[in-house]
Amino acid sequence: MGTKLLTIKSAHLKPGCRVLLRADFNVPVDATGAISDDRRIADSLVTIKYCLQKQVRLVICSHFGRPEGKREPQYSLRPVYDRLQRLLPAVKIYFANDCVGEQVEQQVLNLQNGEILLLENTRFHAEETANDADFARQLANLGDVFVNDAFGAAHRTHASTVGVTAYLPSYAGFLLAREVKYLSHLIKKPQRPFTVIMGGKKIADKLPLVMKLADIADYLLVGGKLAEEWQPLNTNHHAQILVAANAVNDITPATVAEWEPIINRSKTIFWNGPLGRFEDPQYALGTQAVATLLTHSGALTVAGGGDTAAAVKGFQFDHVSTGGGAALEFIQGEVLPGLACLPSKGGK
Ligand code: 3PG
Repeated sequence: MGTKLLTIKSAHLKPGCRVLLRADFNVPVDATGAISDDRRIADSLVTIKYCLQKQVRLVICSHFGRPEGKREPQYSLRPVYDRLQRLLPAVKIYFANDCVGEQVEQQVLNLQNGEILLLENTRFHAEETANDADFARQLANLGDVFVNDAFGAAHRTHASTVGVTAYLPSYAGFLLAREVKYLSHLIKKPQRPFTVIMGGKKIADKLPLVMKLADIADYLLVGGKLAEEWQPLNTNHHAQILVAANAVNDITPATVAEWEPIINRSKTIFWNGPLGRFEDPQYALGTQAVATLLTHSGALTVAGGGDTAAAVKGFQFDHVSTGGGAALEFIQGEVLPGLACLPSKGGK
């Protein structure tokens, strides 16, 4: 993959053209199955609206949860369909009970220009995660052009993220391109001082990310459970590392005060992982105080990975990644298969 992905703008879409759009509508749901955060759907609207303006026939596919090849009702994309219809009240949107097969093909045929067909969960078929070529071809048959906007699933080699690109001219959606732009900026040419704030849990899982970021950042501020588990790194790194003291449930006001001047003089800040048990309001204060500092810092602010988006909800950041694992793998410098198979401006 070159640095600049070829976006959907290069597709020169004509009215009536069938666009197969891979979105990541794997949204969090509460105990009743209701969507608790629709950011992944809302952030996809820029690409969806662009397609609708071009009067294409838009077929959208996504995974949802991990049904492991079985048709499990709790993993149906129906609630996403309802939310999409609520977000686009003037658009005719249809739902397909499957993502491949004759009935779906007929529904695509019936689709008029400027209408949307949302397909059922691709992971109801085991062939999806197996990246089965025949299944990928069946999906590809539903479009003339493939657009991948599923940054959150770009680290998966699945039929709907990778396989399908063998059969259709493929492009990046605007959400995916934006993710790549902001996250590349962090690892390639951050304006300095570059500060990384890391929280969350499981140091073992985060160690590769910590090592990478400690090499490229100027400051590494560590909070949350990560601070409790912190062991000094046994190699030399570029970053000055500050580990919050007494951070059992939340970072303390003393830590916030210590971090404040660093945050204020930073030009680029990346935040991964909550700084305490923020779901409980009494332990959200540290996370909120730091989020407020970032909002007023004047730095380029990017948040991403795991629970981070939920932790900084309501605060103004330049970019909040829709990617969990995908964002972290990208920052660690790994090649994401869902991006590697997309053409770039300088050739693949
Ligand atoms: C995510 O939520 O990180 C993506 O949607 C990928 O989901 P997965 O981890 O089940 O592949």
